Amino acid sequence: MFDLLIRNGKVVSSEAVIEADVAVEGERVAGLLKATAPAAARRVIDATDLYVVPGGIDAHVHFDMEFLGRSKHTFESGTIAAAFGGTTTVIDFTIDLSMQGGSLIDTVERRRAKAEGKAVIDFAFHCLINNGADATLAEIEKVVAYGIPSFKLFTVYREANLYVNDATLYNVMERLRDLGGIAAVHTENADLVEHCTARLLAAGKSTPQHYPRSRPPFTEVECIRRVIFLARAARAALYVVHIAAAGAVEAVRKARANGQPVYGETCPHYLLLTESMYARPDGYNFVMSPPLRSQVDNEALWSGLAGGWLSTVSSDDNSIDVEDKRAGAESFQRASPGCVDVETRIPLLFSEGVLKRQLPITRLVEVASTNPARIFGLYPRKGVIAPGSDADIVLIDPKARLRASPQSLHMQVHYSPYEGWDIVGLPVTTISKGMVAVENGTFVGRPGHGAFLKRSIAPAMLKDPL
Ligand code: URP
Ligand code: ZN
Ligand code: ZN
Repeated sequence: MFDLLIRNGKVVSSEAVIEADVAVEGERVAGLLKATAPAAARRVIDATDLYVVPGGIDAHVHFDMEFLGRSKHTFESGTIAAAFGGTTTVIDFTIDLSMQGGSLIDTVERRRAKAEGKAVIDFAFHCLINNGADATLAEIEKVVAYGIPSFKLFTVYREANLYVNDATLYNVMERLRDLGGIAAVHTENADLVEHCTARLLAAGKSTPQHYPRSRPPFTEVECIRRVIFLARAARAALYVVHIAAAGAVEAVRKARANGQPVYGETCPHYLLLTESMYARPDGYNFVMSPPLRSQVDNEALWSGLAGGWLSTVSSDDNSIDVEDKRAGAESFQRASPGCVDVETRIPLLFSEGVLKRQLPITRLVEVASTNPARIFGLYPRKGVIAPGSDADIVLIDPKARLRASPQSLHMQVHYSPYEGWDIVGLPVTTISKGMVAVENGTFVGRPGHGAFLKRSIAPAMLKDPL
């Protein structure tokens, strides 16, 4: 007698779609059974005509923090929105501005305390490094041993005390190579961004419509090439967050073709929106870094996903308070950066990717779940539906529809970047570690069900590009 049986669905992995029933015992997958096999369970969910996919892993979210502005999501509301969107694991950051200058482990503990008891799905953290002090470098080993092998570094945001220079990047990469960790880097050239911004402001071009010119594609492309070069010199693995420019995809493609373990992430908003959004009266809502770019860049990102050059799609969800966004109406510099996508990430990949652009659903599963699990040390516990893996399972109805709006989503913010879009293909049931968290459009999970995930990365991931 199983606890749960999901019958008659199409079970998807990164490799194949098979007809099978999924049996769950407690928090784990007990097995995949032939669809015709007799089996008994305390609860049966009929998945006829539905896809049964591994729960999404969103490797880039910002909940409950003051990060270049106030975010609205707590770990409770953020993980509920994630669960509505078919995500069962989030990876946030240990960034906590009040703790800058403190010890890395203190910051980790403080962030972890914010999520404990509140998260409805499992969570993990990347550890921010914003300085190259000997004490900071020395502490990396402790953080890796704590179960956090991924470290976030910024090449911009000097004004927010987040910027690190090339020497720090290189030093951290060397440490991570020796300790089995990975650097996750935001790649924009600070000098060039500051120069382009100053030039625009001096010319009185401060409204959001001018924002993309403050961070043109070459500022991203120069930086990603340099950071890839540094990773190669350090013989270290590299993860590049929120890639927006076609030239940046090309840089990742070349590095991977050379055998370098470089993993590129993009986000739904960079795949689907363009800089035309900045001309709207609410253009300030779209201030994010890097900025939205052109349709040519959109297409290069889709090709990078289909071709395997880009490895993951994350949300970079940052549910900025309305006042902190509106502050940018007169001057883009005053708008807190960030977009919201934690709930729409998988639905948009299905609707715009699988249905409109023939992205195979196996590839959706790979970039939204399996690859983030592999790269960040959660596989095979997460990222696959297999015997022994966590029963993080999502049922997608390929015909279900939703019109995007702040009211139809659970994002706690005043806008949706996709307002008025019809999204087709929705997660209708989300199961986190054997417990149903969302069904029939209702949250039925429990704050505190989500637990902190200790991670360690498989050595092969740090040597061979996936
Ligand atoms: O501005 C963006 N894309 N996100 C918020 C801050 C960051 O750089 O992650
Ligand atoms: Zn960033
Ligand atoms: Zn971010």
